[in-house]
Amino acid sequence: MNAPARFDVLLTGLNLATLDGEGWGIVRDGAIGVVGERIAWIGPQRELPAGVSSSQRHDFGGAWATPGLVDCHTHLVYAGNRAGEFERRLRGATYAEIAREGGGILSTVRATRAADAGALADASRPRLAAIADEGATTVEVKSGYGLEREAELKQLAVARALGRELGVDVRTTLLAAHAVPPEFAGRADAWIDAVCADIVPAAASAGLADAVDAFCDTIGFTREQTRRVFDAAHAHGLPVKLHAEQLSDQDGAALAAEYGALSADHLEWLSPRGIDAMAASGTVAVLLPGAFYALRETRLPPVDALRERGVPMAVATDCNPGTSPTTSPLLMLNMACTLFRLTPQEALAGMTHVAARALGLADRGRLRAGMRADVAVYAIDEPAELAWRFGGNPCLGTLRAGVPHFRSAR
Ligand code: NIG
Ligand code: FE
Repeated sequence: MNAPARFDVLLTGLNLATLDGEGWGIVRDGAIGVVGERIAWIGPQRELPAGVSSSQRHDFGGAWATPGLVDCHTHLVYAGNRAGEFERRLRGATYAEIAREGGGILSTVRATRAADAGALADASRPRLAAIADEGATTVEVKSGYGLEREAELKQLAVARALGRELGVDVRTTLLAAHAVPPEFAGRADAWIDAVCADIVPAAASAGLADAVDAFCDTIGFTREQTRRVFDAAHAHGLPVKLHAEQLSDQDGAALAAEYGALSADHLEWLSPRGIDAMAASGTVAVLLPGAFYALRETRLPPVDALRERGVPMAVATDCNPGTSPTTSPLLMLNMACTLFRLTPQEALAGMTHVAARALGLADRGRLRAGMRADVAVYAIDEPAELAWRFGGNPCLGTLRAGVPHFRSAR
């Protein structure tokens, strides 16, 4: 590998879990040289070219580096909380019942509409900061708690602004087809008309959405309604994703695959037909163990079949106030293994290069020369430790597009 004469940033004293290739891609006693936003050189430290200098050097004395984590499914921009609903569910109410009574997503819609952009950013900033603090360098954020044009755009704009402020690459997804807003109660088709004719075009022309998502379920939208949202997204050049087969089998994943969706997410009720369709289209299966856990689901996503068919599996927090009030990507790695039986290596791949693929990003998620210099550093003895432990945070900081955000050892 040819090294430049000078790096902007040089990281040394690191064991590397590069995830470059099929397995962990381990390099012991490694170093990473960065020029600008990119990894310029990576390898065993002893092979660092003699005489190469660097503007900044960080030595970690044997910590581990992984690709920066990619949290590819969150709803972290919202106001209010749903602790009261949690108490109701503990007394026996179900998520779907609460939603049908006008609570659930709609209660967060009321709080999110009422918050101005500043208040919404103040409520959401600690969540993005906490996710980044565990090693995330790219975070997807969905709208879906505005459910009217301006409030949806407000959510997306706040997400982007928080990303710039905290130095995290925030990718935004329009999820106006999340629930039927109160103004359209009983008129779901009319709401979908408005989403397609007004909100998708507005988000696209404002450049505020990187993708479009929908919630296809009995308490969400039908296949036909979802299809219309997907058509509108494609008409505006936006790729699609889908909340599919979370609470029931609507054959949503197959629909998503038909549209070449980047991902289909949740998937507890995914059928063999859906798996075949996803395998054929290359759609990523995004597994969300936090929502499975919080809703005390018992039906597991078909992980063995997904693995057998070669469907790539990502793991994300689904950070949201209703079904997954977590800001811990590392806890999700643990839950993906404990609850869904992924291997630690599959879980970390699922939160790095597979998650990047679920966002349509090919330039990150592996430590390799030429990739974006997104790196997470952890005070651990071996990479499987990231999924083994739950609670605590061994992250020493990150490089985000080559910019160091490190703190002293903890
Ligand atoms: O990913 N299922 C739909 N959407 C979210 C939950 C949103 C909410 O309850 O506020 C999810 O689980
Ligand atoms: Fe979600």
